[in-house]
Amino acid sequence: MPSFETLFGESIQMDNEYDSRSQLVLHHGDVLDFLRTLPNETIKLIVTSPPYNIGKEYETRVGIEQYLDEQEVVIKELYRVLSPDGSICWQVGNYVERGEIYPLDIFYYSIFKSLGMKLRNRVVWHFGHGLHAKKRFSGRYETLLWFTKGDEYTFNLDAVRVPSKYPGKRHYKGEKRGQLSGNPKGKNPSDIWLLMEEEWESGLWDIPNVKSNHAEKTMHPAQFPIELAERCVLALSNETDWVLDPYAGVGTTLIAAIKRGRKAMGCDKEDEYIEIAKLRVQSYYSGDLRMRPLGKPVYQPTGREKISQYPDDWVTKRLLERDPSWSSDEIDAEPHE
Ligand SMILES: C[S@@+](CC[C@H](N)C(=O)[O-])C[C@H]1O[C@@H](n2cnc3c(N)ncnc32)[C@H](O)[C@@H]1O
Repeated sequence: MPSFETLFGESIQMDNEYDSRSQLVLHHGDVLDFLRTLPNETIKLIVTSPPYNIGKEYETRVGIEQYLDEQEVVIKELYRVLSPDGSICWQVGNYVERGEIYPLDIFYYSIFKSLGMKLRNRVVWHFGHGLHAKKRFSGRYETLLWFTKGDEYTFNLDAVRVPSKYPGKRHYKGEKRGQLSGNPKGKNPSDIWLLMEEEWESGLWDIPNVKSNHAEKTMHPAQFPIELAERCVLALSNETDWVLDPYAGVGTTLIAAIKRGRKAMGCDKEDEYIEIAKLRVQSYYSGDLRMRPLGKPVYQPTGREKISQYPDDWVTKRLLERDPSWSSDEIDAEPHE
């Protein structure tokens, strides 16, 4: 008999196992065990970021072949539970071994393809901060593979349009000359997504772990922003559809789904993350959850902020070294990295 928690009186019930009457499911346990309890073709959209096998606190590192073999078993189960018009959004970065990078999407592509799935987009999720590499260029993007199970699938472009850069642009030749050329609903957001709030956006420069300044950050070491999942939810599912995150972490996809009136399901093996996910879902319903609003532009420094100006001791040092490419005028004129 599945157990459940009542979040707000009788109105919202969170089950820990799937039941045909469920609306919201959060399961604590192993992904494969959980998926095997789900009926065929139930889920409209799967949005997830699997473990990358890079030795995070929630994973045991194994060879890349073994890792991919294990993931293939999970993906086959995901394919089984996905509805014929359903989609999978698989968000990954790099696996790194002895300084060599293995972009995981390259390896996952053939697993999805072998099941007959079709790649509709390879979205680049670009962010402006991260580790500073010493022996290669610093990585500043990860990818999201959007696969559909078949040729008939949901794609609500209007739900995710973004403001046009030049809404007043007009056709300059042909029959439509002089008419507005854009779409009043906005433009297609494209396959490059710039979502993550810059560390310095919050203005709390002097807090040691600047990452924790992100409005949504919890103690989870590999959380993605609600906005990332929300765009997938809006575009690739309809209200009351099931949205599943098999590696739910602290429940980011679930929040995106319930925020948009979908049924939400998630699973994670770590008790601590499940507890945070429950709290986040509860705070969402009580209106207390801190969220970065969908479509909020990424902050661009003006050059007047103290943090975006070259510190005096750098200027002095460069001048003492007599670097001809630097003068204090140029330094003032080019205040960013
Ligand atoms: C990259 S994180 C996902 C984070 C999530 N997107 C979020 O925003 O919180 C991967 C998650 O998979 C979970 N995980 C790893 N192996 C698992 C397994 N065999 N069964 C269930 N969960 C697992 C980890 O505990 C971790 O929270």
